[in-house]
Order: sequence, then structure tokens, then C-alpha cells
Amino acid sequence: MDITDHPAPAPGTPPGPYDPEAAFEDTIARDQRIEPRDWMPDAYRATLVRQIAQHAHSEIIGMQPEGEWITKAPSLRRKAILFAKVQDEAGHGLYLYSAAETLGADRADLTRRLIDGRQKYSSIFNYPTRTFADVGVIGWFVDGAAICNQVPLCRTSYGPYGRAMVRVCKEESFHQRQGYELLLTMMRGTDEQRAMVQDAVDRWWWPSLMMFGPPDADSPNSARSMAWRIKRHSNDQLRQRFVDMTVPQAEKLGVTLPDPELRWNGERGHHDFGTPDWEELKRVVSGDGPCNAERIARRRAAHEEGAWVREAAASYAAEQAVRTRDGVTA
Ligand SMILES: [Fe+2]
Ligand SMILES: [Fe+2]
Repeated sequence: MDITDHPAPAPGTPPGPYDPEAAFEDTIARDQRIEPRDWMPDAYRATLVRQIAQHAHSEIIGMQPEGEWITKAPSLRRKAILFAKVQDEAGHGLYLYSAAETLGADRADLTRRLIDGRQKYSSIFNYPTRTFADVGVIGWFVDGAAICNQVPLCRTSYGPYGRAMVRVCKEESFHQRQGYELLLTMMRGTDEQRAMVQDAVDRWWWPSLMMFGPPDADSPNSARSMAWRIKRHSNDQLRQRFVDMTVPQAEKLGVTLPDPELRWNGERGHHDFGTPDWEELKRVVSGDGPCNAERIARRRAAHEEGAWVREAAASYAAEQAVRTRDGVTA
């Protein structure tokens, strides 16, 4: 937007009282960033804390389904790639918890809410990883879906969230490619390997479409998030983008996406596709997916086992603060 859209007040106009709400609306309307120091409506802050926390939890819980395969990877090269990928996801979780902290959220409280089931994470991580082909399909579909979701978030209205997304997206792109490259390799292998890839595709396709959330008509908070420019596209728009991006990749790979209704629609300029099982999504989101209990139990155990590290770090920081106050040099 051009600066002349906001002409300076006429000379001699007395300054009006500062209106923080008007300043917020104006910042959003000009497509500028809201920063932690800025006034923001309570509902904007609460929406962001909920979304960023859910995103952070997804990154951390998302380490589990693939992490299981680090010790079982078929070669040193595959192990190193998978290790790097899973570590990246830990880093994504940390950037995002830091972004939530800039809104006044407390990291320990967010973790407690996850473990107690009061905050959610992506439904996709409640499905099991049965074979090594699942590692490839997760990279291709799940990280591919994450790219569709997260690239527009680089321009989200809240500054720290958008800046965190820039780096996250670069790493997601590596994740997607490593998955697709693994699948290309398996498809050049034996009949058994090709069957493993197709089986993983069959199991992950529909849950991946569900990652974008319920259809727009059932997503009441979306419109407000879009008005605040937290979100830039609706769930259905992002899902369509993912389908259009993935179909040619499936053809190149030589696998069949398990949807008899999937076909190109020349009029719309997009692929038509079938309807995901929304009842399944509701069940998985409400805690009744194949691995929900296992994922949370594992997260809780890791949190409890890590207590001594947090205590040691806090006690060291307190000691350093006293030394600094007393002018003691290490
Ligand atoms: Fe990630
Ligand atoms: Fe990723």
C-alpha cells in the first residue's frame, strides 16, 4: 500500500488521543506486522497462543512416529538423514515455544496443557509408522502438507511467528525432498519394496488431507483468523493446493493415490477429489486415534525424565545471577 493512502493530518490539527485499537486495525489493514510490544486485542493474543502452541506441540510430538525408525534405518546414510530431520523438528518446536513466550505464554504451562490433554497437536501424528516406507511417505505427504500450510504463515500478521516460519519452511523443504527421494529409490528396487510404498501411500493419503482441518463450513474460527491475517488461505484452499501439487508427483513416482474420484477438472483448473472421513478426524482429534494415548504417554515420560536437566539449568542460572549481583567473576 502506498504511503499516500495515509495522508498526514492538515497543519495545525491538534493530535487526537492515541487509540490503540485503531492503531492495531490500521497495522493489519496496511499488511504490517504486529510486534510483542504492540497493543493487541485479547482474542487476537489468545488465538495466536492457541495456534502457535498447537503448532509447537505438533513439531515435538511429530518426532515420535519417525524417531522410532532411527535405530532401524537400513543404512548409515538413511540414518543420518532421518536423524537430521527429526532433530530439525525439535528445533521447530523450540522456535515456536519461543514465539508463544513473546505473547506472555509460559513454556512449562504449555507443556503441562499438552500432557494433560488440554491443548491439541496435529491429528496426523496419531497414526502408526509400520514400515520404513512410512518414513518416505511422511516426508512426501506430511512435510509437503506442512509446506502448503506454513509458506503463507511466513507472512502472518504476528511478527515473531512469521519470522520463525521462514527458517522452518526451508527445513520442511529438505524434509519433503528426503522423503520423496527415499520413495524414488524404493520404487527402483524390488516388487516387495514397491508394494511397501503403495501400502504406505494408501494408509497416509486420507489422514494427510485431514491435516488441513475440517471443511471451511465447519471451521468457525477461520474467518476471524483470516480477517486478522493470521491465516491467509482457508482449510479447503490449502487442501486443494496440496492435492494439485501431489498428483503429478504421484504419477512420476508410479504410485496410485487411493481415491477413485480423483481427476483433473479443466473447468476449475484443479483436481476434483473425494471427501475425507470427517468422523474419523473428529475421533482422532478428540483423543481416540490409533496412537493418541501412546504419544502422550511417551511425551509425559520424556518430560518427567528431563526434570533433573531443567532443575540443574534453573539452579545454575540462579547461581550465576547471584555471582553477577555480587560482582564475582567466574
Ligand atoms: Fe517441522
Ligand atoms: Fe518437517
